[in-house]
Amino acid sequence: MKRKKVVLITGASTGMGRATAELLALKGYEVYAASREPQRLLDLREKNIIPIYMDIADPKSVEKSVKALGRIEILVNNAGYGLVSSVEEFDEREMFDQFNINVFGLLRVTKHAIPLMREANGGIIINISSFLGKIGLPLLTMYNATKYAVEGVTDSLRYELADFNIRVHSIMPGFFDTQFARSNLATNKDTFKEESPYRHIVSNLIPQIVEQINSGNDAKEVARLIYRIIEDKNFPTRATVGDKAKKFIPMRKELSDEDFERRVKEYYNL
Ligand SMILES: NC(=O)c1ccc[n+]([C@@H]2O[C@H](COP(=O)([O-])OP(=O)(O)OC[C@H]3O[C@@H](n4cnc5c(N)ncnc54)[C@H](OP(=O)(O)O)[C@@H]3O)[C@@H](O)[C@H]2O)c1
Repeated sequence: MKRKKVVLITGASTGMGRATAELLALKGYEVYAASREPQRLLDLREKNIIPIYMDIADPKSVEKSVKALGRIEILVNNAGYGLVSSVEEFDEREMFDQFNINVFGLLRVTKHAIPLMREANGGIIINISSFLGKIGLPLLTMYNATKYAVEGVTDSLRYELADFNIRVHSIMPGFFDTQFARSNLATNKDTFKEESPYRHIVSNLIPQIVEQINSGNDAKEVARLIYRIIEDKNFPTRATVGDKAKKFIPMRKELSDEDFERRVKEYYNL
């Protein structure tokens, strides 16, 4: 009997991670769903998904959990959150933590997965970036910077790992109705004070963004895209998914920086 391919998904307790774990288990993959709180995934055991503990901010936790698997053919780097803050007001900790999860965490898991993929003579790494990995927005500067960085990681790693038959892809989702706006947007307290000089941007932009995320696309669409990427060895480097990404990414390519900025300002009343 052909053995099942092993998939590791980070940040799998909710949203896109959970939807992907469910779909890939259904399609016959051996799925390890990593979370800081694997007890939240116990219900998935009856769907043949194995919850594991991993704190991607902790290098030792990552090394231990990845090595314990012994085999990984597919890695979905999904864990991430968003900092909402002006640059003037965020502190060192907020700045570092945003990169520590969205970029360094992704790199830590990838670093330990690569040797296992090389031993298996191949693998697939799928990085969940964002359409905000190609488009900037005020008060999301740090989040934007991390997702632009994920795009850079994807481009560089593709060269580095091509000789080992390891494919690297990025997915740039638009807004999706997950736990992201409900539990995983961290806000800087000064930026959200009445007297903040950024108050007008907070009150114009943030309710719109939160509303657009909470009424966004279904995470199952991301799961289906991940499955397509895994199954198609010729799949392009990066893909967009969701209405907002499909609207804004082509527009970003077609317009000049200034024209695009004007459109975004009009759209969000900035
Ligand atoms: N929703 C959107 O509109 C949207 C749009 C574009 C891109 N994205 C990206 O898509 C990915 C998945 O997000 P989602 O929409 O599915 O949101 P979600 O439901 O909030 O899931 C995000 C997962 O990331 C992990 N995570 C969050 N903060 C973390 C932290 N401080 N340390 C470690 N892990 C943390 C959590 O995993 P555990 O609690 O299981 O550890 C959480 O389940 C993220 O990388 C996000 O940036 C989302």
